[in-house]
Amino acid sequence: MSTQAQTVRIVEVGPRDGLQNEKTIIPAATKIELINRLSQTGLRTIEATSFVSPKWVPQLADAAEVFSAIEKHAGISYPVLVPNEQGYDRARAVGAVEVAVFSAASEAFNQKNINASIDESIERFAPILDKAGNDGVRVRGYVSTVLGCPYQGDVPLRDVVRVATRMHAMGCYEISLGDTIGIGTPRKAREMLRAVAGEVPIEALAVHFHDTRGQALANALACLEEGVSVIDSAVSGVGGCPYAKGATGNVASEDMVYMLEGMGIATGIDIEKLIETGLWLSQQLGRQTASRVARAGT
Ligand code: HMG
Ligand code: MG
Repeated sequence: MSTQAQTVRIVEVGPRDGLQNEKTIIPAATKIELINRLSQTGLRTIEATSFVSPKWVPQLADAAEVFSAIEKHAGISYPVLVPNEQGYDRARAVGAVEVAVFSAASEAFNQKNINASIDESIERFAPILDKAGNDGVRVRGYVSTVLGCPYQGDVPLRDVVRVATRMHAMGCYEISLGDTIGIGTPRKAREMLRAVAGEVPIEALAVHFHDTRGQALANALACLEEGVSVIDSAVSGVGGCPYAKGATGNVASEDMVYMLEGMGIATGIDIEKLIETGLWLSQQLGRQTASRVARAGT
């Protein structure tokens, strides 16, 4: 077993992964306020929005407006999702200095999500990584469907390893391994991480669990025990991918921070402020928070 991390960096994906899955268009002002509030909680990475095609994800058509307006604090990174060079250029035009590209371990999901095969999607990243290298922009990489695909079913581990390894080799500084539909269980999550960590240094790996079946905290713990020290989560447990049938929210950031801090693992996050922000967001969305910790505390 690898040494368990003493500190964990939480990558807050609520403003992007969370809001992209909301049916009703949320005003840009609400998105901006959400990010500004999150910036006060001690988070160091807040994924702000996504420069994908507005025809595919109308909810985030205001990406440029939102990114331009948010307060940018020293010491906090505000990465944005980009699917292609056009997205990269749009993100750069408003000053983004960190982007995230995304592919999947399953062909069927990749086709539905970005209308491309895995190889095609990775070819699209090459010009992004070239430009990013010249621009001094950091590039994170996501691999989706690492524990199962809504269209294909089982996803062989070798496919996860192959895509993660390629994306890391081409220059992504960190690879986030996504259980897009929240289908995995801890032993599988551990085996998956172990297999990828055989090829990509564990320091360059993050995990991203959707909580569709209530397994996200357990899966994250299994990966923590394998030595991972970067975990994606979303305030109030918002999230889901509009092109992944049956995917629900990410593990709630409040619950993740509660677990980690309770285990003596430092996150640098003020949980009270995070809970407050999550409750504010759930009010804006007109439904109860999915964070169990927030519910227990109120
Ligand atoms: P396409 O239709 O094949 O693209 O979509 P295209 O190149 O043929 O372009 C079609 C139109 O879109 C053109 O406009 C382009 O200009 C425009 P038209 O000529 O028809 O007026 N276009 C763009 N506009 C703005 N920004 C852009 C852009 N690109 C093209 N960047 C494409 C291909 C990749 C664009 C599309 O499939 C897409 O945007 N997909 C994104 C889907 C998405 O956002 N999914 C959710 C994020 S992934 C996720 O949630 C998983 C994750 O959380 C991890 C996990 O949980 O596993 C990360
Ligand atoms: Mg996701």
